[in-house]
Amino acid sequence: MPTAAFVTLGCKVNHYDTQVMREALKKAGYHLVNPDEIADVYVINTCTVTSIGDRKSRQIIRRLSALNPDATVVVTGCYAERRPDEIKNIQNVALVLSNKDKPFIDKFLNGLMNEVQNETGFYPCITSFDDQTRALVKIEEGCDSMCTYCIVPHVRGCTIRSRPIDSILQEVQALAKNGYKEIVLTGIHLGAYGKDFTNGSGLPDVLKAISAFDGIKRIRLSSIEPMDVSDELINEISRLPKCAHHLHISLQSGSDKILRLMRRGYTSSEFENLVNRIRLAIPGVGISTDVMVGFPGETDQDFAETCDLISRVRFSRLHVFRYSPREGTPAAKFPDRVPDRVSSKRSDEVIALGERLLREFYSGMLGQYADVLIEDTREGKDNLLAGFTSNYARVLVVDATDDLVNSIVNVKLIRLEDDHLIGMQSLKDKIIA
Ligand code: F3S
Repeated sequence: MPTAAFVTLGCKVNHYDTQVMREALKKAGYHLVNPDEIADVYVINTCTVTSIGDRKSRQIIRRLSALNPDATVVVTGCYAERRPDEIKNIQNVALVLSNKDKPFIDKFLNGLMNEVQNETGFYPCITSFDDQTRALVKIEEGCDSMCTYCIVPHVRGCTIRSRPIDSILQEVQALAKNGYKEIVLTGIHLGAYGKDFTNGSGLPDVLKAISAFDGIKRIRLSSIEPMDVSDELINEISRLPKCAHHLHISLQSGSDKILRLMRRGYTSSEFENLVNRIRLAIPGVGISTDVMVGFPGETDQDFAETCDLISRVRFSRLHVFRYSPREGTPAAKFPDRVPDRVSSKRSDEVIALGERLLREFYSGMLGQYADVLIEDTREGKDNLLAGFTSNYARVLVVDATDDLVNSIVNVKLIRLEDDHLIGMQSLKDKIIA
């Protein structure tokens, strides 16, 4: 049996795409192994969102080709989409696949490219999510926002392509049948889901439809843009018991000047009002965000405004990125570039602020009860089973045993430790699902 190993960089959508390829190769008779093992085929699903993504992608390609110089090395993903020639020149790379072609990796490996169905109506369906308790489901491709710093529309397409609800439900049904309890809906521009439909259906309809599945106990949204969080969406999340009380809403900057230069389409006060509306409708909600530091023209004052807004909003968790110029985007030509040492210092500062806010958010939950989906991973100094609550707090459960993996258990949050909470199963209603 031939063997194949995968390495994935980048976002949740890219991880979903890898699962599609894994299942395609499994079906074609490959045995999947870990990427630190000798394999016949190595697949690297790359990312190009920053120059770090490019560099890491190249490093991994070289490392895997050196591990087995006789292997077939396949490179795909967004860096491969953007710089196919650069990648073809790396020693031992046998095949470079575009994002559009990667679901058909088995055909390309077997020289059956003529069988590839490239028509737009094709939606590959996954049935499991290797090594994960939560299953990602991609419901949309492409982004039509054109933020000035972002390369993603260039590599994923700048039109919205929403997946029909029937196809989503078919996938969710297969995942539920295989025991998955939590679904994370992902897309390149998730909140634009349905924009290309003529029947008016959108993200709230997907939430309602998935909620009807018995096996699925929790539905989470991955990253969403502030302007896409409608009152209807907020109402559905608050009303449907299976919707996770967590939203990851990209802020990027708290300075109106920088938001304008980024072409983000909202102001800092609009963002703050949105968060207030969400908090009123969904008590205890976790709101996390992405922040970019060092965008061209970002002064100390702009950065201070970002930190002030973050502190006022009290995000539960921050993902911090340093601006990375991407050739072909408008911002790459903007003047007033922020020196590396300044953006690095700002990044450290905002990361420290994020850690403080995470601890504050967790402290506010102490003494409460919460439902935790137990994952197959042990963490912390006592090597405890861990999982996430509905509002995306990481909890290590002192008295969870291996038979509880993939169960939702109700725990009392008893202690804050480093960057996680410690929970103990409550005496009644131990296993919820
Ligand atoms: Fe990276 Fe492509 Fe995702 S650039 S962040 S893998 S859409």
